[in-house]
Amino acid sequence: LPEHVGVIMDGNGRWAKAQGKPRIFGHKSGMDALKKVAVHGARRGLKVMTVYAFSTENWARPVDEVKFIMSLPIDFYGKYMPTLKAENIQIRMIGEREGMPKATLASIDRAAEETAENTGMILNFAMNYGGRRDIILAIQELAKSGQDLSLLTEEELSKHLQTAVLPENLRDPDLII
Ligand code: FPP
Repeated sequence: LPEHVGVIMDGNGRWAKAQGKPRIFGHKSGMDALKKVAVHGARRGLKVMTVYAFSTENWARPVDEVKFIMSLPIDFYGKYMPTLKAENIQIRMIGEREGMPKATLASIDRAAEETAENTGMILNFAMNYGGRRDIILAIQELAKSGQDLSLLTEEELSKHLQTAVLPENLRDPDLII
């Protein structure tokens, strides 16, 4: 069994279109599907599930669609917090906070706090996350602290990536779907 599984949320729009529904209907259904997948993963004994829900590139989508996607975490935790707690799931987030709506961040922070004592699977939301952006921000931080970047090791870099919110041996996905 892989320990850390990444799930790229894709095809919501196409799926909705095939049903003759608007794209946001697909996102809403994607949110409900995510809950099912997370519960299944937790019960099967995965250690971490990272869901790539919104990338830094996704800001280029129509404003209304972005707004809707940013409202989904509020909906998700409002609806599913009792389930997440019952399934012993811990919520975390990676991604850049800057630029994200305050209410969205507040709902994710609250969910992380309320599940901090849980010991089961970590459900890690990648929101406003970009892999290259993560590396750039880490290097900028290291440069500012006066480190000699020509001596930078993978271990040192890894400590400064946003994925450092995950346990050290579980930061990189074993499988990405
Ligand atoms: C990609 O599908 C999906 C997204 C950009 C957004 C997915 C995010 C959610 C459903 C929210 C997740 C929930 C929480 C709690 C954070 P697409 O629109 O690119 O589909 P397409 O490729 O068919 O166009």
